[in-house]
Amino acid sequence: MPLPSIKELLNASAPAAGVTARGWIKTRRDSKTHSFAELNDGSCRANLQVIFSPENGNFAALLPQLVTGASVEIKGDLVASPAAGQKFELAAREVKLHGGCDPESYPIQKKRTSDEFLRTVAHLRPRTNKYAAMLRIRAELAYAVHSYFRNNGFTYVHTPIFTASDAEGAGQMFSATAFDLTKLAGIPKTEAGEIDFSKDLFGKKVGLTVSGQMEGEALALGLGKIYTFGPTFRAENSNTYRHCAEFWQIEPEMAFYELADDMELAEDFIKSITRAVLENCPADMELFAKFVEPALMGNLQNITGNKFERLQYSDAVKILEPENARFELKVKWGVDLASEHERFLVEQHFKKPVILYNKPKEVASFYMKLNDDGRTVRGMDVLVPRIGELVGGSERENRLDVLEGRMRDLKMKVDDYQWFLDLRRFGSVPHSGFGLGFERMMMLVTGISNIRDVTAFPRVPGYAEF
Ligand code: 4AD
Ligand code: MG
Repeated sequence: MPLPSIKELLNASAPAAGVTARGWIKTRRDSKTHSFAELNDGSCRANLQVIFSPENGNFAALLPQLVTGASVEIKGDLVASPAAGQKFELAAREVKLHGGCDPESYPIQKKRTSDEFLRTVAHLRPRTNKYAAMLRIRAELAYAVHSYFRNNGFTYVHTPIFTASDAEGAGQMFSATAFDLTKLAGIPKTEAGEIDFSKDLFGKKVGLTVSGQMEGEALALGLGKIYTFGPTFRAENSNTYRHCAEFWQIEPEMAFYELADDMELAEDFIKSITRAVLENCPADMELFAKFVEPALMGNLQNITGNKFERLQYSDAVKILEPENARFELKVKWGVDLASEHERFLVEQHFKKPVILYNKPKEVASFYMKLNDDGRTVRGMDVLVPRIGELVGGSERENRLDVLEGRMRDLKMKVDDYQWFLDLRRFGSVPHSGFGLGFERMMMLVTGISNIRDVTAFPRVPGYAEF
C-alpha cells in the first residue's frame, strides 16, 4: 500500500485518529497559544492545515525550524476543520523534521516569483503552486491523449529517436554521433577530407528525429490507425515564446483517411482533450484562470464550443492582402503565412480556431499530396488564439511517380528514401496524419504565455540547464 497523500487525507470520508502526513511547509503562523502550518506534498493544489496545540505535545523546540520549505512528517489526528473551504485539518501529535530550510537563502520566496526568476531555479519551481499545478495538468493532458486514441481504436506505437530520415526535409536535424568530438584529430575522414560516418556507430550519418511521421506512415500502413507521442528535436535557432529545441509531439497517422477526415479528427481530438482537462483538473485550472490568464475559461469555451473554420489558403490571402498595412511580412499568393497572419485570422477575423488548408506547394513539405490544380497541396494547419499554429498535418502523397518527382525537384537524395517509397510501391492507400505540439497545447489549456514555462526543464536556444 502506498503511503497516503495529502489529497487522499483531504478527501477522506470521515475523521481518523493516528494518520501521518508528509510534505513541505508552505507557511507557518503562530498565535499566543497555538501554531498553524500549511503543508503541501504536491498531490493536489490544496494544503493540509496542521495545528500544533500545547495539549497535544511539546512542539516549542521544533517550531522555529518549521519554516517555509522545510520537509516534515507529522503524525496526528485528522479532525473536522472549522475553517471554510476544507473538510479536515490535522491536529499534530508528533513531528519529524526531514530536512530544514534556511529562509534567507531558499529561493522560493513569495516576493521573488517572476516567471523569469523561477526559470533560473527550475529544479525548485515544482514547489510553487503554479508549477506544480502546471505539471499535474501536463500529466492529465497526456493521459487524456492516450485515452482519446485508445477509445477510438488507435494503436500506440514508438518511433525511433535516432534516425537518418529528415522527416520535414527542412534541414533542422541535430546531428548525433558516437565519435568523440572533443578529439577532432581522432575522427575518421574520407579521402575528400569529410567526416567518415560509415565508421560511426550506426555506419551512417544520423540525427535526432524532427518528427515520427515517416516511420508512423509505415506503421499505419500495417496497423490502420496509429499514434506516436514522444520527444522530437529541432535545431532551429528560433528564440520565441512558442519554440523549443526539444518538444513533445503527438502524431496520429491513419490509412484510408483523406484531408477532410484528417481535419475532422484534429478538431475532435483538440476539443476532447481540452474538455478532459477542464473536467479532471478543476482546482488547478482555477488557479490559472485566477492568477495567470483571466480570459482562460472564455478562451477554452471558444475552443470546445465552436466549429473550427475551414479556410483555404487562397481565401486566407483574399482576407489578409487588404490588411497588409498592419503586417511586417506583406501577404500575396505564394507567401508562407507567418504567425502575425495566423493570429490575425484567428483573433481578429474569425475569432475562433481556423483550419487553414490547400497551401501552395512551394511552401509545403515534400510528402503532402498534390492537388489537381498542380499548384497547391493537401496540407492543413490548425490555428488557435494566442499561439497560432497548434497542429500541422496533411494527406500524404500516395502516388509513387508524383512523390518521386517532387523529391527530385527538391533535390532530395531519393536513394535514401527507398523504404518510404516502398510504402507507395506495395499496396499504397490514401492516408493522412498530423502532428500536435504538446507544449503548445499546454499553453492553450493553461493560458501560460511562454513555452519555457509549460515544461519542467525547457531546452531552448542558449539554454540547457539541469
Ligand atoms: O508542423 P510540423 O513541423 O509538422 C510535422 O512535423 C509533421 N511531420 C507532423 C505530421 O504530420 N505527423 O510540427 C507539428 C507541430 C506544430 O504544429 C507545432 O505545434 C509543433 O509541432 N512544433 C513545435 N512546438 C514547439 N517548438 C517547436 N520548435 C516546434 N515545431 C513544431
Ligand atoms: Mg508546421
